[in-house]
Amino acid sequence: MSLARETPLPGASFGATLRLKGTAPEIVAAAERDPAALPAALAEAKGLLLIQGMNAIADDPDLLVRLSRVFGPEVEDYRHTLTDLKSVHVSVPEILLVSNMPPVGKAPPKRPEPPLAADGLIPVQYPHRKGWHTDQSYRRPPPDISLFYAVTPAAPDTGQTLFANGILAYAALPADLKARVDKLDGLHAQPGTGRSREAALAGRTPRAFASHERSQRQPLVRTHPVTGERSLYLCEWGQMDWFEGPFVGMEPGPHGAGAVLLDEIMAHLTERQFCYAHEWTQGDLLIWDNRCLVHAATWFDGDREGRLMWRTTVHGNPGAHYAGEIKSWIPVA
Ligand SMILES: [Fe+2]
Repeated sequence: MSLARETPLPGASFGATLRLKGTAPEIVAAAERDPAALPAALAEAKGLLLIQGMNAIADDPDLLVRLSRVFGPEVEDYRHTLTDLKSVHVSVPEILLVSNMPPVGKAPPKRPEPPLAADGLIPVQYPHRKGWHTDQSYRRPPPDISLFYAVTPAAPDTGQTLFANGILAYAALPADLKARVDKLDGLHAQPGTGRSREAALAGRTPRAFASHERSQRQPLVRTHPVTGERSLYLCEWGQMDWFEGPFVGMEPGPHGAGAVLLDEIMAHLTERQFCYAHEWTQGDLLIWDNRCLVHAATWFDGDREGRLMWRTTVHGNPGAHYAGEIKSWIPVA
């Protein structure tokens, strides 16, 4: 498969745009014939690939699943992973619907205040920007890759997807901070289990966990199983456990020493120099590596427009750290 590419992504210092010949079905068939090509390009681009003009996926959603299979041994079937079925594609259960429209009805994130950063661009840095996370980090083993396809994107300059690169941010840490974060584990919480920073600040008592929904430890610095690169791996307000965490063995809670460190690390990770903001065009496909990137959604006017995106999630190569583990999120019968 010949992979003409432009690198990095516009305005960023990582990522690549692939310029592939042919229609979406031809591109998927070429990727299947040479299954190492796209994963190698993803690793080389430090975790983010853009392929444009994939519009035929909208009429043949199985193309997205076939392309996902190139990236790993297991494409999640959302019927078996306790996902709300109204967010699952009716005929292709490997596709998660991300939308503000019925039946999903998920509201867009709030607009940051102020709406623009001091440099006049869309804000990326935490805590001005919130919502940074890596997909399903509340599961062990966590997933590898997400594919995200724009069926109907939001209006221009809204509904972007932001990315911050944990490899670049880790490499730029001062040596003393590197030594500190190398030894830590974060405690990641599933949204909806009542463990958010808002809940802790409001003094709410979290409900008891079912065993399969427990918050999960994850190393704050992960070693990439393909490239060996070291990367920051953490989330913030909505996807860490702010009652027992955010870090194992540090003072817990929203005002503890763990909170101070998380705020410092997350502000560093989301500095503009480590970020990319994707402006969506219909037919765009983004492929990202959750093992080394965090991402965040941005506001769009959900009262006036309907946005529909399709996501698949690829599992199966989390690295030696997770060797032999059974899935934490599946209830044991
Ligand atoms: Fe996400």
